[in-house]
Amino acid sequence: MSASITHSATTGRDDAMDDPDWWRQAVVYQIYPRSFKDSTGNGIGDIRGITERMDHLSALGVDAIWLSPFYPSPLEDGGYDVADYRNVDPLLGTMQDFAGMVSAAHDRHIRVIVDLVPNHTSSRHPWFQEALHAPRESSARDRYIFRDGRGANGELPPTDWTCGFGGPAWERVEDGQWYLHMWSVGQPDLNWNNEEVRRDYLDTIRFWSDCGVDGFRVDAAQSLVKDMDRDDLNDWSLQYDALPSDGSHPMYDRNELHDVYREWRRVFNEYDPPRFAVAEAWVNPARQYLYASADELGQVFNFEFAKADWTAEGMRRAIASGLAAARESGSTTTWVMSNHDVPRHASRYGLPQVPARGYHQIAQDWLLRNGGSYMEDRALGTHRARAAILLELALPGSAYIYQGEELGLFEVADIPWTELEDPTAFHSGDGNPSATRKGRDGCRVPLPWRHDAADGFGFSPAGSGAEPHLPQPAWFSCLNAQDEADDPDSMLALYRRAIAMRKTLEGMTSGTAGTASSVAWRPENGGDIIAFERGNWICITNFGAEPTPLPQGEVVLSSAELMPDSTVPSDATVWLHATETA
Ligand code: GLC
Repeated sequence: MSASITHSATTGRDDAMDDPDWWRQAVVYQIYPRSFKDSTGNGIGDIRGITERMDHLSALGVDAIWLSPFYPSPLEDGGYDVADYRNVDPLLGTMQDFAGMVSAAHDRHIRVIVDLVPNHTSSRHPWFQEALHAPRESSARDRYIFRDGRGANGELPPTDWTCGFGGPAWERVEDGQWYLHMWSVGQPDLNWNNEEVRRDYLDTIRFWSDCGVDGFRVDAAQSLVKDMDRDDLNDWSLQYDALPSDGSHPMYDRNELHDVYREWRRVFNEYDPPRFAVAEAWVNPARQYLYASADELGQVFNFEFAKADWTAEGMRRAIASGLAAARESGSTTTWVMSNHDVPRHASRYGLPQVPARGYHQIAQDWLLRNGGSYMEDRALGTHRARAAILLELALPGSAYIYQGEELGLFEVADIPWTELEDPTAFHSGDGNPSATRKGRDGCRVPLPWRHDAADGFGFSPAGSGAEPHLPQPAWFSCLNAQDEADDPDSMLALYRRAIAMRKTLEGMTSGTAGTASSVAWRPENGGDIIAFERGNWICITNFGAEPTPLPQGEVVLSSAELMPDSTVPSDATVWLHATETA
């Protein structure tokens, strides 16, 4: 079933790659492989495409790349429905291509992180196919969560839960039993109380570690272990808005779950340097530190930044919670403004900054369809996105940037409904409150590499005439990588300069330096201003409508042109070197 290992565990490594703490202050670039770069001309991004563009990543200065799933998948959830955990989807390449990509990354001292999707498999996974044809109570069914239904003939699902994309979380199979899927029908949940499932996952971790990957991003890390034998299941919901802080939810963040990660940690530590892991864990903030502790996964995503409005108060709160979580876990925190699941922040910041359901799910054009004249203010969004990246990169911890944000891309909110791929858009049946949600495709549109619209703005090889798998808007020509690389005022130029400078500024070196406690709030901090110091380095962001005085110091980088009277304009961030006061 799985590909064989054909290369050594040390693919492309040299001594500079030995630092076990490389991830603590890293800039990590997330690649959504199907939309990064197409090397074959079929309109789908692939592994060789990543290799081809490794110089873009190296010039950007990132420490690591994280690849969203590239495994064989029927793509019911953008690849987060995995049919074979230990292989490359033939549409995206081969294991040899993968080895070449890892070497190309390591040659440039870029680490490689891959996505683990342990909560569920694809319904096309051989295990699930076996379960479907196996009798009730069989060991094949025990790898998943099969239950009898309620009602006289078991015709009602075991509970009333709705799944992540809308619609029931249970699907009935031929012999009348039901299986649980917290996400789409094509993503049956694994039973993590099953020994074979646990053991097999350790093999998957070893497999990719032996292929030379440096770390793992753990998908839906809060939901693996379930207690399905209690009477009160229906009293709980599958929405993780307000999770308990004592591990008592039957599905999420259970105390036993942490035994799984402690077991994984022992495997990560079999390698030298130990393999890194970061958890995507939607849990009560009071329990995030568990995932980030050194004997579990080591780091956890802090989504407070992605959820916050562009206000000083919202951002200050997000920063405080990230720093507090890091202190509690002894790890470093993470900063995320965008990823493959949320609308792009250059668009979010160009919208009215009011609380919105699903943190600015702007990829729904109901306002347009209802005659509204709805459009984000793109100039404002860009201005704020420039300020935001300098604020993010100034903070201690790891910065996770999502492909295309370095180009200043906006959400593509007007993809026709008939061309959408995200299951969110398909579960929009009658009476479903999510009927107007287009989902997440608006941030997953293939990247524009060149000005010219041909071949998907250079996404596909020149002359291939390939159509990208999601349609690109005409305005991509103004935000393409080639032109931005030559323009000193572009978003790309700002990202490059900021990432390079971050590495040299005092208090911002890699490794263990720059822990949470190294942020010192400045006197200017408060009201519409966020201002702090790290070493002799000052970062100030003005969220207010009026300019604000610059702190004393030498300006080293600014997201916007400074005012003639040396004040910080509205929605701008400035980095300074503190100078001695007389
Ligand atoms: C995670 C992924 C998301 C996916 C879901 C189910 O939240 O980020 O893209 O749909 O898990 O695997």
